[in-house]
Amino acid sequence: MASRAALLVLLLAAFASASASASAQLDDKFYSQSCPSVEDVVRKEMVRALSVAPSLAGPLLRMHFHDCFVRGCDGSVLLDSIGNNTAEKDAKPNLTLRGFSFIERVKAAVEAACPDTVSCADVLALMARDAVWLSKGPFWAVPLGRRDGRVSISNETDQLPPPTANFTELTQLFGAKNLDIKDLVVLSAGHTIGTSHCFSFSDRLYNFTGMDNVHDIDPTLDLQYMSRLRSKCKSLDDNTTLVEMDPGSFKTFDLSYYTLVAKRRGLFHSDGALLTDAFTRAYVLRHAGGAYKEEFFADFAASIVKMGSVDVLTGTQGEIRKKCSVVN
Ligand code: HEM
Repeated sequence: MASRAALLVLLLAAFASASASASAQLDDKFYSQSCPSVEDVVRKEMVRALSVAPSLAGPLLRMHFHDCFVRGCDGSVLLDSIGNNTAEKDAKPNLTLRGFSFIERVKAAVEAACPDTVSCADVLALMARDAVWLSKGPFWAVPLGRRDGRVSISNETDQLPPPTANFTELTQLFGAKNLDIKDLVVLSAGHTIGTSHCFSFSDRLYNFTGMDNVHDIDPTLDLQYMSRLRSKCKSLDDNTTLVEMDPGSFKTFDLSYYTLVAKRRGLFHSDGALLTDAFTRAYVLRHAGGAYKEEFFADFAASIVKMGSVDVLTGTQGEIRKKCSVVN
C-alpha cells in the first residue's frame, strides 16, 4: 500500500514537472521521421521570397514575437476574426504586421510535402529563424513540436509591449513570459532589421506629454536624430510613411542597433529605455562598438529559442491547422 502511494507521488511529481516545462518537449528533430523535408521546404520558399522582397524579413521576425507573447507560440496571431470574435490580428498593435499571405503560402507548400503534420506555429518559428539567417544574422536549431491553438482574442494583445513603454513596464511584460532583462536587451536588437510607421514613435517628436506642439519632445532622444526623423515624419497625422529602424543597414542583422541606442538614437522610447538600467545599459555599450558579434549572435539564438518555447501547446493539445488563418 505504502509503495503504491509512493508511486502515485512520483507520477504526480513527474506530471507536474512535465507540464511546467512544455519547452522540454520541443525538439529540433521532432519531424525527422514524420516530415524530414520540412526545413528544406520552408528554406526554399524563404530564399525565393527574400531574394525579391528582402523587406519581408522584419515582419516575419516580428510576427513570431507577437505570436509568442499572446497565448504562447501557438499560431494564434495568424487566425482571422470570425463572427463576433475579433482576433489578435485585428487588434491595434497587430495592424502593422505584414506577411500573412506569404506564411499561408509557405504552410501550403509544407502541407503538400507532409499533410496534417507540421503546425503553423512551427512553420512561423522556422520562417523567423530563416529571416534572421538570410539577413546575415545567426543560425540556430529551432526546437519543434508546437501545436496550433484554436483561440485568438484581440484584447489579449495588451500583453505586447507598446513602443512607449519604460524599463519597468518592459521588464513586467517580459517577466510575465519568463523572459528576463538579458532576454529583453538581446531580443530588442530584432530592431536591427525592418521598418516602422511614423505613428509608432511620432509622439516623441511632437506630442510627448500631450501638449501637441513642436517643443513637446522626448528628452531622451538625440536632438540631431530628432530633426532627421522630423524631416521624414512631417506631423503627428502622418499614418503612411515608413522609416528604416536601423538606417543604412535595415536589411542586415548586425550590431548597429546597439550603436544607435548608445547614441540615444533608438527609434522607440522602449529602445531608449534600455539605457536606464545598469545591466541593460552595460550590454548596449558593450555591443555598441561591434567587436563581439559572435557573442551577441549566441545570445540572440539562446533568447529567441527561449521566447519560442513560451507557453507552447504540445502532445495532444490544440491541433495541426490545415490553413493558418482558420481553425480546422
Ligand atoms: C521590447 C519591446 C518591443 C517593442 C515595444 C516593440 C515595438 C515595435 C514597434 C512599434 C514596431 C513598428 C511597427 C510599425 O509601426 O510598423 C516594431 C517593429 C519591429 N519589431 Fe519590435 N518591439 C519590441 C520587441 C521586439 C522583439 C523582441 C522583436 C523580435 C525579436 C522585434 C522585432 C521587430 C521587427 C523585426 C520590426 C520591424 C517590422 C517590419 O519591418 O515591419 N521587436 N516593434
